[in-house]
Amino acid sequence: MFEGGIPPSLARTLRNARSVGALTGSGISAESGVPTFREAQTGLWESYDPIDLATPEAFERDPRLVWEWYEWRRGLVARAEPNSGHRALVELEVRLSDFTLVTQNVDGLHERAGSVGVIELHGNITRSKCSEEDRIVAPGATELAPPSCPNCGAPLRPDVVWFGETLPAEALKAATLAASSCDVFFSIGTSSLVQPAASLASDALRCGAVIVEINPSETPLSRGADYALRGPAGEVIPELVKSVYG
Ligand code: OAD
Repeated sequence: MFEGGIPPSLARTLRNARSVGALTGSGISAESGVPTFREAQTGLWESYDPIDLATPEAFERDPRLVWEWYEWRRGLVARAEPNSGHRALVELEVRLSDFTLVTQNVDGLHERAGSVGVIELHGNITRSKCSEEDRIVAPGATELAPPSCPNCGAPLRPDVVWFGETLPAEALKAATLAASSCDVFFSIGTSSLVQPAASLASDALRCGAVIVEINPSETPLSRGADYALRGPAGEVIPELVKSVYG
């Protein structure tokens, strides 16, 4: 059991909740072997900072480098399996009549675990899109890195949101609505540093929700959270589900 265990008052709150929202970050996939966004990179990529690669400027400067970095990450994601944290969120969704899962992750592991209607704020690494026309394209078999758009010849890029880009408007609107109307809001495995995702917890707090953080480390959200459960998501969420539903 993680240190402290699940407070009985939290189990009671969740049992009585009408509407529950959750925001996940890359920490929930750490136990699936996908490194978190800010964690030191290994092997070939250890001398690069992800923040210098995940930008439109980096892609313009060196499209091949950025494409190959995402190919490496795609490989990690393809070999990874959803973990007990992803699966426990599926169970919460099944048990609760009003549950909204919002993720900053681009790895698709929530969907592979069985979550339905996940709001993806930062896109999905498994898709590619035309860098000029902004539409989804399935890259054909090619040695090119990056491959070209079959329609206009522009380089393809991953369908993810880079630093400095705006989030998909519909996804952000739905996430903001869920955060502003829930009774309980979970912030799971995120450093709460990247906006506008991080402000969803503040929206929920302002609207009176009980805020629950699940993260082994402290974040800027911790002080404002009603509960800060310090442990890995793959242990804490299943325990939480067990404490509420037995
Ligand atoms: P970060 O790498 O900033 O933070 C990961 C968080 O997960 C940290 O606070 C860790 O303490 C925590 N963590 C690590 N292992 C964990 C575990 N087993 N269980 C629970 N928590 C754990 O990643 P994000 O907050 O997701 O966007 O970063 C937000 C966004 O920044 C990313 O989505 C990325 C970047 O912009 C894109 O790539 C589009």
